[in-house]
Amino acid sequence: MKNILIGVCGGIAAYKSANIISKLKKKGYNVKVIMTKNATEIITPLTLETLSRNKVFVDMWDKNRSFEVEHISLAEWADLCLIAPATYNIVGKIANGIADDMLSTVIAACNCDKFIALAMNVNMYNNPILKENIEKLKKYNDYNFIDSDEGFLACNANAKGRLKDEDEIVNIVENYFLNKKIKKLLKGKKLLLTAGRTEEPLDPVRYFSNNSSGKMGYSLAIQAINLGAEVTLISGPTSLDIPEELAEFVQVKTAKEMCDEVLKRFDTMDIGIGCAAVADYKPKVCADQKIKKNTDELVITLDKNPDILYNMGLKKEKQILVGFAAETENIIENATKKLKKKNLDMIVANNAHNMRSSNNAATFIKKDGTMKEYTEKPKFDLAYDILIEISNIISK
Ligand code: C5P
Repeated sequence: MKNILIGVCGGIAAYKSANIISKLKKKGYNVKVIMTKNATEIITPLTLETLSRNKVFVDMWDKNRSFEVEHISLAEWADLCLIAPATYNIVGKIANGIADDMLSTVIAACNCDKFIALAMNVNMYNNPILKENIEKLKKYNDYNFIDSDEGFLACNANAKGRLKDEDEIVNIVENYFLNKKIKKLLKGKKLLLTAGRTEEPLDPVRYFSNNSSGKMGYSLAIQAINLGAEVTLISGPTSLDIPEELAEFVQVKTAKEMCDEVLKRFDTMDIGIGCAAVADYKPKVCADQKIKKNTDELVITLDKNPDILYNMGLKKEKQILVGFAAETENIIENATKKLKKKNLDMIVANNAHNMRSSNNAATFIKKDGTMKEYTEKPKFDLAYDILIEISNIISK
């Protein structure tokens, strides 16, 4: 279980730290506590020692100390540091590099992420010096602030400055560890993703294409990055912003271009997802000049485009391969046929009418025949579900 180091400062809300410590202990975390000298005037170390089932640290020069350099070993022990309540004073000390007691010294030596739960008098809370100190610390990635709530304060005012509800603070800590775990699910996995539509030119100004917005594919890219994957996005035209932190972005127009770019890279990938709405056919000839409307009838001959996913399925060795089936009828039956034909590990079957929408409902069909149904939800959320299912397949 994770190690949480709790700093307790000398605001009246110090008594609430007992509740936070007790709740975190009940959830199974290891908790060690450092109190400032002022905090010990409000709540006794014995109380927090009993609740945390660990010695409480206050004094740098404790006569009963062990052989260890305590401020360093505590800093190294912590997976997360939570200061609750954090006073105006401790924020000022951290922001200005002051380490003159046990708590401020340990914080200075801590590499882990820190959560600072503010609690103080409303005038102190509104003091621009506090705001400056907070802004300064926010520039460093490891300082997170849990803002005060509005409520009845010890100074008899109903105003901002109250420590956030203990349950909410515990939730923030829990979500932090949960997100950290989730972030690692696809860590280091190389993902090749096709998205958007393709455009197949008929002449210099006209093309064949489809309704795809690219939202599903771009959502997959963003969520996969959040889960730690190294994402290569091969995209046909869309009007969406290119996601940040991609390993590579390749802009293509036609199915042929998309296919070439995909097959160049697929061998080194761990996961392939074909989310692009690829045109199945393209005009046999692309006219050099704009076609004139000289005839009553215009016959255009179409050639079959390469099936990119099918080709990935042929090349597939260790990769997990996932495709989409946007159908207008017999959704499950047609999707299952594609799953087999294209040698996929999973196919996401959905209704083609959702192509431009921000929401989608889908059934995930796996190679072993198992199915999971997902009711309508934002494509961004569905993308997350798809990636979690892929990480389940990988970990089997
Ligand atoms: O066969 P169908 O086009 O319905 O299959 C859809 C799936 O195959 C999608 O995952 C799509 O990205 C992929 N596909 C492809 N190349 C094509 C056609 C579809 O990769 N030419």
